[in-house]
Amino acid sequence: MAGIKSIGILTSGGDAPGMNAAIRAVTRSAIYNGFTVKGIMRGFKGLVFNEIVEFKSQSVSNIIQLGGTILKTARSEEFKTVEGRKAAYDNMVAAGIDALVVIGGDGSLTGAGLFAEEYNVPIVGLPGTIDNDLGGTDSTIGYDTALNTIMESVDKLRDTASSHERLFFVEVMGHTAGYLALNSAIATGSEAAIIPEMETEVDQLAELINHGFRKSKNSAIVIVAENPKTGGATALAERVKKEFPQYDARVTILGHIQRGGSPTAVDRILASRMGEAAIEAILDGQRNVMIGTMNGKIVYVPFAKAIKHDKGIDRGALELVKILSI
Ligand code: F6P
Repeated sequence: MAGIKSIGILTSGGDAPGMNAAIRAVTRSAIYNGFTVKGIMRGFKGLVFNEIVEFKSQSVSNIIQLGGTILKTARSEEFKTVEGRKAAYDNMVAAGIDALVVIGGDGSLTGAGLFAEEYNVPIVGLPGTIDNDLGGTDSTIGYDTALNTIMESVDKLRDTASSHERLFFVEVMGHTAGYLALNSAIATGSEAAIIPEMETEVDQLAELINHGFRKSKNSAIVIVAENPKTGGATALAERVKKEFPQYDARVTILGHIQRGGSPTAVDRILASRMGEAAIEAILDGQRNVMIGTMNGKIVYVPFAKAIKHDKGIDRGALELVKILSI
């Protein structure tokens, strides 16, 4: 796009495996197309506090396989203020940055949209979150790796659940979305998935669990999406224990382990394709769009649609968990 010579790149919000692969792809594609690249440390916070470094091709050597983000990340309170965004803009201009690539989840893209509007800055977003809760894309960078991490952990829990004939409630992340819970339940053959998109009563749950206990293996695993409104797995297990004391129940909260680790091939490839597409988008004159993929094809998603989280949950998938656990 005419006038753009230098591109700033940042990662923001919760880190996700594959962010480094995305940083590498954006940096190298930008350099390939004649842009200079600046790395902004600690997300928008680094823009507010002027933590900007020169990025060369070698700056991103040997990082495709690393979890986390070499640019660090933060959830910036400063950037939420008018003064903070003004400082960020002034620092950006002083560093000669003409356009930004922002890798993050819904909070980060919301901030990006606001900044773009206020200061007329060209911004392209990449969906970087384990939650998969952005609209207009089949998957987000980090989701597949987190799903695999959950799967490996639940497989281990199944060994002990089955040996002791126990019921396990396993809490997984997802912010307000149930994708990780639902698909990890399918991948692990769990007896039920409790997701924020669907209300589940205790007696419904008992029926689901009974399915599991009727099976010869006599163990049951219920995957519960984190949910501050209901109290997640801990609260659910308490209720079940009270009403069904015959079950020997345990709770495991997987927590931040889900955010770490080397990205899967799926996430590395997704991040590489999306990172290159972000530079293509800038060359095409696109601004204020997130790069997504739909049916394997790269698409441009306006920020407003991306943050809407209107993908909906696949009810067929929920039914599948039930059918396959009879
Ligand atoms: O958005 C990613 C995510 O891991 C969510 O699944 C979770 O709700 C949240 O971030 C946890 O945030 P923090 O790392 O600030 O505790």
